[in-house]
Amino acid sequence: MARRKKVYEGKAKILYEGPEPGTLVQYFKDDATAFNAEKKDVIEGKGVLNNRLSEFFMDGLASAGVPTHFIKRINMREQLIRAVEIVPLEVIVRNRAAGSLSKRLGIEEGTPLPRPIVEFCYKDDKLGDPLVTEEHIIAFGWASQQDLDDMVALALRVNDFLTGVFHAVGIRLIDFKIEIGRIYDGDFQRLIIADEISPDSCRLWDVKTNQKLDKDVFRHDLGNLADAYTEVARRLGVLPRNA
Ligand code: C5P
Repeated sequence: MARRKKVYEGKAKILYEGPEPGTLVQYFKDDATAFNAEKKDVIEGKGVLNNRLSEFFMDGLASAGVPTHFIKRINMREQLIRAVEIVPLEVIVRNRAAGSLSKRLGIEEGTPLPRPIVEFCYKDDKLGDPLVTEEHIIAFGWASQQDLDDMVALALRVNDFLTGVFHAVGIRLIDFKIEIGRIYDGDFQRLIIADEISPDSCRLWDVKTNQKLDKDVFRHDLGNLADAYTEVARRLGVLPRNA
């Protein structure tokens, strides 16, 4: 059998050519990185958990009418997705202060924000994914004003959905990052949720204890990352078999 063609390898995932035109296979690695890959490790089982969790969130979003790239899970580590043209921006939604916002503005971690705040970072590892304004995005042609409006609307719908899903299992969604892709239908372009949604790209705190159940456990050496992700999967009822 011919080897599959690798299309792209990132820090936590690999993309292979899919079985049909316009599809890709997304493979979840066990690699964990933080601080723009300055800190690295292999966390056994993380890829399996994130594959299953991302399926769960993408499926839920589709049911709520939010379009995503997810087609189906293929096996423990792989899922079939639609090929998209990735918008070169990370879209971050924050409900409480944490991470780079706390650092930048001197706001204590956990402080509730008056309303969800949407931020954009330019996707460029060499530059460390810098925060950019809507002015930069439009001036440099990374997205149009219409795209920006659509991306903010999509991000806030994802926030509403995820906030509710996590709240139901005693987890507070502090913030998260999504990536957005373009698909084309003739002359028309649509924006859909791409990449992954998992504890790698969210901040998740236990509602009662504020225990961290996300990648900050790895970033700040707070315990076992796979245990934290397993707890999230267990609460959501999506624990994979043989994980
Ligand atoms: O570091 P910062 O506070 O800006 O991160 C905000 C949110 O976006 C966090 O949930 C973090 O895990 C996520 N993020 C990400 N990938 C990045 C940067 C941030 O998933 N490259």
